[in-house]
Amino acid sequence: MFSIDKIRADFPILKREVHGKKLVYLDNGATSQTPQVVIDTIVDYYSNYNANIHRGVHTLSQEATDKYEEARIKIQKHFNAKHPYEIILTSGTTHGVNIVASGFASILKEGDEIIVSALEHHSNIVPWQMLCEKTGAILKVIPMDEDGSLRMDIYHELLNPKTKLVFCNHVSNALGTINPIKEIIHAAHKFGAYVLIDGAQAVPHIKPDVQALDADFYVASAHKMCGPTGVGMLYGKEELLKLLPPYQGGGEMIETVTFEKTTYAGLPHKFEAGTPNICGGIAFGVAVDYMNSVGFSNIEKQENELLSYATQELEKIEGLKIYGTSNKTSVISFNLEGIHPYDVGAILDKLGVAVRTGHHCAQPIMDFYCIPGTVRASFSFYNTKEEVDVLVNAVKKAQMMLS
Ligand code: ALA
Repeated sequence: MFSIDKIRADFPILKREVHGKKLVYLDNGATSQTPQVVIDTIVDYYSNYNANIHRGVHTLSQEATDKYEEARIKIQKHFNAKHPYEIILTSGTTHGVNIVASGFASILKEGDEIIVSALEHHSNIVPWQMLCEKTGAILKVIPMDEDGSLRMDIYHELLNPKTKLVFCNHVSNALGTINPIKEIIHAAHKFGAYVLIDGAQAVPHIKPDVQALDADFYVASAHKMCGPTGVGMLYGKEELLKLLPPYQGGGEMIETVTFEKTTYAGLPHKFEAGTPNICGGIAFGVAVDYMNSVGFSNIEKQENELLSYATQELEKIEGLKIYGTSNKTSVISFNLEGIHPYDVGAILDKLGVAVRTGHHCAQPIMDFYCIPGTVRASFSFYNTKEEVDVLVNAVKKAQMMLS
């Protein structure tokens, strides 16, 4: 049974105050908060078995290695990858995108085409622009519509035999739009193109099944789903991860090294050079268990209720415009007429409400709406309707003060 009081008690930070007011944390799109069980895992690692992995015969090293590899299996099962070695543990979503983008530098040819969506985060635009500069490939963009959805009719027209790669986020970080990734993947495959899905904003809300989606690559960060920062995952189909060259050279990613020639380790180690974020990886596995113990159907229900209630209440405020209204997760991006989003955010902070303001690392979306940025409230399953009320009253107060 989903009990909001029990859930909130799992998150120590939710008890704190900011500027003498009870914290109302609505910046979950930037990072989710951390439950006690994940914090305990981090403390336990450094208190009891801190050691380097895959290297030592000693007990601590074995314990750390076993826990790290157990975490990989938890993540594999969560995303329904076929094999544990198809999960590369990364430093986060951006790292995963860059492994794939740099890997394709030796595969793409001049004139090949790459498609990205207009809803991308900068981390899913810049690496592909760099790839185009290196290879002479051409970047094409699926445009967006006023309601924050993608122009799928134009996507189908953009696809052609020269298309080699397609990149799209599962959920837009700036607007919350849930993109039709199954259709995107299926259509790209008809032309033999590979698809990378950026799941950073989807994983707190949705349990993706990479095999059912037939995704070629899927990337995400632990800290968006109750885990620590500095760790994430890249899923890749076995044959594609084998095809890509390593991203970094170093220890752990080799089979043999001589000064004449080095041979690389198999998966996943080929992409995991150097000492990884061992504690973070183990804690990521625990965060996955925690999210599953809450249950994704409970998460969806709670977040959808918050989204509907907050939308209904915010829409009552005259001069407030919400950006992105199509099928979406619990994100509301909005502006107050004639008021800069930064000023609204600063007043909300003084009232204890944490939101993100600005372009959300998605400047092309802001350009589309001809605005400098938005105020973004992003809700998690541990938020409440009472917190929505605090947000709405704080927005009204900000409007009064700034008008
Ligand atoms: N990409 C994160 C956000 O949308 C940081 O806030």
